[in-house]
Amino acid sequence: MICIPIAAKTSEEAISLIKEAEKKADMTELRIDTIKKPEIRKIIIAAKKPVIATNRKKDEGGFFTGTEEERIRLIEEAVNEGAKYADVELSSGKEAINRLKGKCKLIVSHHNFKETPKELNEILKRINETGCDIIKIATLANDITDNIRMFELARKANSEGKKVIALCMGEKGEISRILYKKFGCFLTYSCLPGKETAPGQIPINLMKDVYRADKLNAQTKILGTIGNPARYSRSFYMFNPVYEKLGLNYVHLKLESDNLKEFLAEIKKLDPAGFSVTTPYKEEVIKYLDGIDETAKEIGAVNTIVVRNGKLIGYNTDGTGAKNAIMEKTGLENKRIVVIGAGGAAKAVAYTLSKEKCRITILNRTAAKTKELAKKLGCEYGRLDDIEKTRYDILINCTTVGMSPKESKTPIDKKHLRNTVMDIIYEPPVTRLLREAEEKGCQTIDGLSMLLQQGIEQFRLWTCREPPTGLMKESLWKSLSNQ
Ligand code: ATR
Repeated sequence: MICIPIAAKTSEEAISLIKEAEKKADMTELRIDTIKKPEIRKIIIAAKKPVIATNRKKDEGGFFTGTEEERIRLIEEAVNEGAKYADVELSSGKEAINRLKGKCKLIVSHHNFKETPKELNEILKRINETGCDIIKIATLANDITDNIRMFELARKANSEGKKVIALCMGEKGEISRILYKKFGCFLTYSCLPGKETAPGQIPINLMKDVYRADKLNAQTKILGTIGNPARYSRSFYMFNPVYEKLGLNYVHLKLESDNLKEFLAEIKKLDPAGFSVTTPYKEEVIKYLDGIDETAKEIGAVNTIVVRNGKLIGYNTDGTGAKNAIMEKTGLENKRIVVIGAGGAAKAVAYTLSKEKCRITILNRTAAKTKELAKKLGCEYGRLDDIEKTRYDILINCTTVGMSPKESKTPIDKKHLRNTVMDIIYEPPVTRLLREAEEKGCQTIDGLSMLLQQGIEQFRLWTCREPPTGLMKESLWKSLSNQ
């Protein structure tokens, strides 16, 4: 079930938000503590779907300032008026918990807004001892692997026959909210767009329509984009609607990790099917793989991992993606191409294009890397400011310069832009480089086109099926209005 917490300032606002939330959510949580003079009866009667009555005190992330007696009394009132569930913090103590027991489905909760502590099992045990109906533990994720610990906790509670809500808060806890059914959780929390009530909540339209969280289950196979940052990734928009359409039990997530090695070891517990790998991990990831495809090995970078029998196998679809994106607009034969950058993405693009009948020059900031790559591919090379004297038909930016949040940057001065200009950055969808190229009348190829093309190849690798390219493109372009 998906629950939307309602944090309103007035009773009228609460009623109107409940009506809005009930259009998509299975239930709502009435946060009594955010309402000035709550007219409990009026609000509960207006709700058509089950309500959780909650009156959070300050140290558990709430706003209630009255006495403890008054706090519990208001929850009791909501229950008497028909709230099916009540949420009381473990720290409220036995007396408060016992007052509500038997009158409703009782959730006893524990929140930690600083971290996901080591002693999760101890907290679980203490809540279980209260004899509540549902155990809730919500802690802040400081690292994506905290979600895996939460997953194991939920699994333990399930194996003991307990209903549980186990989630990680914060941006790094997003996956625990999406995967609540895989975790075996009783419900997850979402929010109305722009009305987040806890850090990391995902708006209901994304939760249901894109991630389809309520349709996932214990068998769902995990796919996702690993990067740092990964928060700007749009792959999940492109892939999830395809899984829905084809009836595939997969989900594509954003997997932002600070520690790639630890992440890859831990995520195996979630039974992943594969990953996209993005900046800055395309080269580093190679040392953690169990196998690598010949082309990816030659390129020296991996942007796709397929998990086969628990083994991580690396591939690279960046080069083919870039080539196909170019071919949609122009040919490659006899073209002079400038590749800007010598990182993971640049290696893949330059390698793939070097197999075509075109001439490549690599320009990059760090000379040693540039020389090494150019020598390997047998092409010309230079520094970034050599663009002044380099003739080209197609310029491809493969650096991270101009990527959100540093959107005001550009790798190449406007005065040097001509003919065809391509940027592999897709966040923002029109980078400063592309905008300036358009202003100069150049033909442009954007990063979304490459994202789509490399994603088409990834889909083939992960699912061994022919990708519905039209739907992938439509979903990706639709995401631009989904900000
Ligand atoms: P990816 O895996 O996405 O290719 P990467 O391997 O970290 O990411 O490569 C990033 C590229 O952007 C590199 O070519 C890098 O240049 P260096 O080789 O000199 O490090 C380039 N880059 C990043 N920041 C840059 C900046 N401020 N100016 C110029 N180039 C930059």
